[in-house]
Amino acid sequence: MRRFLLFFLLATISQTQSSQVQTALMANVPGRKTASLNGAWHIVVDPLESGLNAGYYLNHKPKDKRELVEYDFEASETLSVPGDWNTQKEKLLFYEGSVWYEKSFSYSRREHTRVFVYLGAVNYLARIYVNGEAVGEHEGGFTPFDFEVTKVLHDGDNFLVIEASNQRRDDAVPALHTDWWNYGGITRDVVLIETPETFIRDYWIQLAKGSRDQIGGWVQLDGDHRPQQPVAIEIPEAGIKTSAITDAQGRATFHVPAKLQLWSPQDPKLYDVRISYGDDVVHDSIGFRTIETRGPQILLNGEPIFLRGISLHEEAPIRGGRAYSVEDAQTLLGWAKELGCNFVRLAHYPHNENEIRLADRMGLLVWSEIPVYWDIAWKSPAALANARAQLRDMIARDHNRAAVILWSLSNETPVDPDRLAFLRTLAEDARRLDPTRLITSAMNRVEDDGADRHVLKDPIGEFLDVLGLNEYYGWYYGRPEDADRQTWTSAYDKPLIISEFGGDAAYGRHGDVATRWTEEYQASIFVHQRNMVKKIPHLAGLSPWLLMDFRSPRRPLPGIQDYYNRKGLLSNMGQRKQAFSVLQNFYRELHEHEPPLK
Ligand code: GCU
Repeated sequence: MRRFLLFFLLATISQTQSSQVQTALMANVPGRKTASLNGAWHIVVDPLESGLNAGYYLNHKPKDKRELVEYDFEASETLSVPGDWNTQKEKLLFYEGSVWYEKSFSYSRREHTRVFVYLGAVNYLARIYVNGEAVGEHEGGFTPFDFEVTKVLHDGDNFLVIEASNQRRDDAVPALHTDWWNYGGITRDVVLIETPETFIRDYWIQLAKGSRDQIGGWVQLDGDHRPQQPVAIEIPEAGIKTSAITDAQGRATFHVPAKLQLWSPQDPKLYDVRISYGDDVVHDSIGFRTIETRGPQILLNGEPIFLRGISLHEEAPIRGGRAYSVEDAQTLLGWAKELGCNFVRLAHYPHNENEIRLADRMGLLVWSEIPVYWDIAWKSPAALANARAQLRDMIARDHNRAAVILWSLSNETPVDPDRLAFLRTLAEDARRLDPTRLITSAMNRVEDDGADRHVLKDPIGEFLDVLGLNEYYGWYYGRPEDADRQTWTSAYDKPLIISEFGGDAAYGRHGDVATRWTEEYQASIFVHQRNMVKKIPHLAGLSPWLLMDFRSPRRPLPGIQDYYNRKGLLSNMGQRKQAFSVLQNFYRELHEHEPPLK
C-alpha cells in the first residue's frame, strides 16, 4: 500500500509541475503575422464567479425550448478590448471581481502552421478557453502571455472566452493596497499569431556585455529543429549578415563584430534587424548601447549621464483609465520630452509595449518596474513565484529595447529579513536573465543621522546597481522651505536616483505658498526640492512624482482630489500646473551645464 501511495504522490507532483510549465514568451509580436481580436466583446459581469460552475466558457445555446441555460453572450452587453472595464461602464467604476468576455471569430486553417493566442495584459487573473476548451491561465496584471491553440481551433467558426478577475488578494503581486486604481479587464491587445511549424520564438540581439563593437546574442526556436539548419541574423545598414546553428534545445548563439552608431537620447538610432529560419522571418528595430555604473556614476556608452526624469502611471490622458495605445504613449512621452526629460520611470508595473517602443524611438531612457509594492506576502512561495514570473516576462518582452536601462524590483517595501530574501532572489533572477542592464528598487526607509541629516542604509542596497530613494520633504513631512537645509546620503558608493518627490495640487486652485493643495504650494515644493537635491552626493538622476494626475481609491477629498492623486505636473486633462515650469527650468539649467557628448 505504501509503495502505491508513494507512486501516486510522485505522479501527482510531476503532473502539477508539468501543467505549470510556462513556455517562453513570444518575442516581438508587432513584427509577426497576426490577426487582431480587438473590438467589441460580449460580457457577463460575475461577482460571485458563478460562471465557473455554470460553464460560461462553453458559450452554450439551449438545444430546445425546454433546456435551462441562464446566460447568453450573444444577447449580452459588450466591452471594448483593449480597455479597462471601470471607465467603460459607470456601474463598473469600483467593480472588483470576475467579468467573462466572449469573442466569436472565423479562422481559415493553413497547412503546416501553428496558431497562438497572445494577450498584452489582463488585470489581474485570466482564464482562457477556446471553443469550450481550457487552454491556460495567467496571473499578473501587466505582463503579456500566449497559449498555443493549434489543436483546438476549428477551420471556420470559433469562439474565445476569457474570465478576467481583478480581485485583490493578500498573496498577490501587488497585494491588497496600492495607490492606483484597480483597473480590471483585458487592458491591452489580443491577437492570434500564425507561425510555421518550427519558428523563431525569442531572441536576444544586443551589444555583448562590456563591448561597444561586438554584438552578442541568441535565437530560440520553437518546434522540431532537426535537421539543424542555420538561423540567419542580418543588420543590412551595418553590413552585418551572420548565421548560427541551433543546439539540441533549439538555441543558436552568435557573436559578430559590429561598427554601429550607438543609441542615445540625443541620437536614438535604431537598426532594422532581420532574423530568419526556414519559412519564418521576423523584423525588429533595435538600438545598440551600453549601460553600466562606475562608483556613483551611470555611464551610457561609456560617458557619465544625469537622468533628467519624471515618473508616470499608465493612465490614459484626457479619457482616463488604462493607457494602451500608441496615441496615449505619444501624448504622455511627448509631455515628458517637453519637460526636458531624457528619462522616464514607468511606475509601478510594466507599461504597454507601445510605450516602451516609442521611448526607443524618442530617445527616452526607461526605468521599468514590477509591482512588488508596499505590503507583499514576503513568506508566501506563491507570491514569490508570481513576482519571479512577472520579472521574467517583463525582461522577456523588452530585453531588446535599448531605451530600457533599469529593471526595478520593488517600491517602498519594509526593511525585513523575509523581504530581503524575496528581493535578493529577484535580483539574482534579473542578473541571470539580463546581465547587461542595471538593477534598482525605489526605497523610502531612511535613518536620521542628527537633525536634518538622512541616511539611506537599506540592506537591499547591497545587491542593487542603482539606488532609488522616494522622499516627500515638504508634503508628508517638513515644510517646503525647510528642504533647503536637509542633507541626504547613502551608505553605498553607488548611483542614487531620487525616484519620487512632490505634492498634490488641484489644477487652477491658487493661494499663497503656505496653502496646501494650491499650485503655488506644489511649485514651492519643487523650488525647495531643487535646492536640496543639488547638494546630494552620488545623485545620478531624478524622477519626481509625477507627470500627470491619476485615479486612486485612496484620494477622495471632494472638490480637490475626487478620487485622483493630484501630484501630477499636469492635470488628467493635460493642463499644466505651475510646478511644470519649475522642473522644466531646472532641467534646462542642468542640460545646459552637461558636458558635450563626445
Ligand atoms: C508613494 C508611492 C506612490 C504614491 C505616492 C503618493 O511614494 O510610491 O505610488 O502614489 O507616494 O503618496 O502620492
